Amino acid sequence: MKVTVVGAGAVGASCAEYIAIKDFASEVVLLDIKEGFAEGKAMDLMQTASLNGFDTKITGTTSDYSKTANSDICVITSGIPRKPGMTREELIGINAGIVKMVSSSLIEHSPNTIIIVVSNPMDTMTYLVHKTTSLPKNRIIGMGGALDSARFKYRLAEALGAPISDVDGMVIGGHSDKGMVPLINKAVRNSVSVSEFLSEDRMDQVVQDTKVGGATLTGLLGTSAWYAPGAAVSGMVQAIACNTKKIFPCSALLSGEFGLNDLSIGVPCVLGDNGIEKIVEISLSDAEKAKLAESAEGVKKTNGLLEL
Ligand code: 2OP
Repeated sequence: MKVTVVGAGAVGASCAEYIAIKDFASEVVLLDIKEGFAEGKAMDLMQTASLNGFDTKITGTTSDYSKTANSDICVITSGIPRKPGMTREELIGINAGIVKMVSSSLIEHSPNTIIIVVSNPMDTMTYLVHKTTSLPKNRIIGMGGALDSARFKYRLAEALGAPISDVDGMVIGGHSDKGMVPLINKAVRNSVSVSEFLSEDRMDQVVQDTKVGGATLTGLLGTSAWYAPGAAVSGMVQAIACNTKKIFPCSALLSGEFGLNDLSIGVPCVLGDNGIEKIVEISLSDAEKAKLAESAEGVKKTNGLLEL
């Protein structure tokens, strides 16, 4: 199992580290445009192998896509991260050109790969990869909902005073401060609805804190977060690599599912060795349907800024 991670910045390097520690891949290739940067990150990570107990081989390369040849899975994290006060959508001007170049270069050497897109604005970048490459739509997946759901569970556990292992919840919709749809009415504490523990006001606060989870961290860190994004995408890589059939909320190209067409947006997906094995059209309340439709309008508006 060969995995390429494009972008050896904080998110890409964290993703590579988590993949290595989980030890399900034989090889991880880190690629970056900055001279020597990916090589240095790979060497530093390899020097943790005896300490963290993994046999995965991590190598780095500066812009040599031939080193990524025949990758089973490729993760695109390249592009600029947002600064405090910025929206993810404001990154489109620079990141669209980068993602277009990167996806074309990856496909040239790995025509049968599965691409996971992390770069922001993620739903629009995922849509761009669909338009740029000839890959079947099940082999292009956006990572946003897995991260947002992890933040949702963090906030739920905080509100409940419960261990995160006792909590479950999912976020669908666009990976944007306004477009996320945390499914609070489906969230549970060990199979019991969280509404049996939390007031309406407290549940609303959990939803709001979740939606701005990325912006909150950007304000604290001065740049985008990396540990949870890296962990979220490494979990998706593992589900595909190990054909686990786990369900993740992923940005998937819709053709009528949930009444939506011609956009990529966060919906529940079964992940396996074919990438998106199935889009799961879960039942939604009228309010949830309306929020998803509104979120889709926002994603389509950002897609409209692309020069396709
Ligand atoms: C985040 O929400 C980087 O979009 C990512 O942290």
